[in-house]
Amino acid sequence: MAKAVSHPQSEPSLSLRPHQPVMLAEVLKAVEPDERKTIVDGTFGAGGYSEAFLQKGAQVIAFDRDPAAVKAAQELKDHYGERFTFISQNFSTLYKALKEHNTLPVDAIVLDIGVSSMHLDQAERGFSFQQDGPLDMRMSQQGVTAADLVNHLPEDELADIFYYYGEERKARVLARKIVEERCKAPFDTTRQLVKLIQSCVPASHKGPHPATRSFQALRIAVNSELHELRDALLASEQCLSEGGRLAVVTFHSLEDRMVKQFMAEAARTSLGQSRHQPLLADDQLQPVFRLVPRKAITASEKEIAANPRSRSARLRVAERLSTPARHHTVEPDIEGHLPVYSSLRF
Ligand SMILES: C[S@@+](CC[C@H](N)C(=O)[O-])C[C@H]1O[C@@H](n2cnc3c(N)ncnc32)[C@H](O)[C@@H]1O
Repeated sequence: MAKAVSHPQSEPSLSLRPHQPVMLAEVLKAVEPDERKTIVDGTFGAGGYSEAFLQKGAQVIAFDRDPAAVKAAQELKDHYGERFTFISQNFSTLYKALKEHNTLPVDAIVLDIGVSSMHLDQAERGFSFQQDGPLDMRMSQQGVTAADLVNHLPEDELADIFYYYGEERKARVLARKIVEERCKAPFDTTRQLVKLIQSCVPASHKGPHPATRSFQALRIAVNSELHELRDALLASEQCLSEGGRLAVVTFHSLEDRMVKQFMAEAARTSLGQSRHQPLLADDQLQPVFRLVPRKAITASEKEIAANPRSRSARLRVAERLSTPARHHTVEPDIEGHLPVYSSLRF
């Protein structure tokens, strides 16, 4: 999609943004934005990636489910006009939304999964265990809050959330203690929950704060983060042009594992077909992506020193091949990572 591009004189400065984009140089190398390309930024945040793509002349379509992202998006819109489109929706709606905007196929899809610095820095959003705030954690600012889950879920479902989404070894003890305490008074604030977690999860000298894993777990559950990621990965297959790139940055092992597994499976030939899976039709046996490179890319020492948040980042990149998109009647293995909780949908 070639477009005449005029580069504005004074561009909004990336360094002034409240969220420092992670592994930006590596992401740029992966998707090589230029005037001929349409790039989807599935996780707009403060717009660090989007703006860098726009500065290279690309057409950018950005998604963010958080209404707080609209202001920064409007600034980019004012500056870059037609070349920038913002869609205030979940990135799991990728295929449908791009189809409605008549922009299929696209040349790259980039996802930078997780919370932004704005989420963590604003106590009133309830994401941070280091500041006191309402026990909220909703990225979209709609629907079920972390307090709803903590105060209403049955004990075994709460324990499963801490165990599967936080890999918290004390999950069962924690859930039991929460259920005992919430009968006396409901959990309304992050501080209340942190105090309770500290009473059951021992602090280790050099390790993370005892509340790190449980807060991650609740955040994943509140925002259906793994389901969102799964749906976007599957949709990327239908949305990318031949040679188009999928680049995903993750910050913890649950998400990285899902991306790794999806890409590996999509790049697998019939020879690599697992004998534990049902027999697949011919069109399911062709690889639809190739891995570029085969392994995850990590942040440079220099970036880690400047931005410690980048330490846990993993970037995985895959390139779409010419093979038709698969019909996902056979769900990929990644489904196994998604314990489903009935009461999460109340
Ligand atoms: C880590 S931040 C992205 C930062 C961005 N790359 C930048 O440079 O500013 C992740 C953003 O994705 C958004 N987000 C997370 N899950 C989402 C989803 N399923 N759909 C749409 N936006 C999502 C969050 O609201 C947050 O603003």
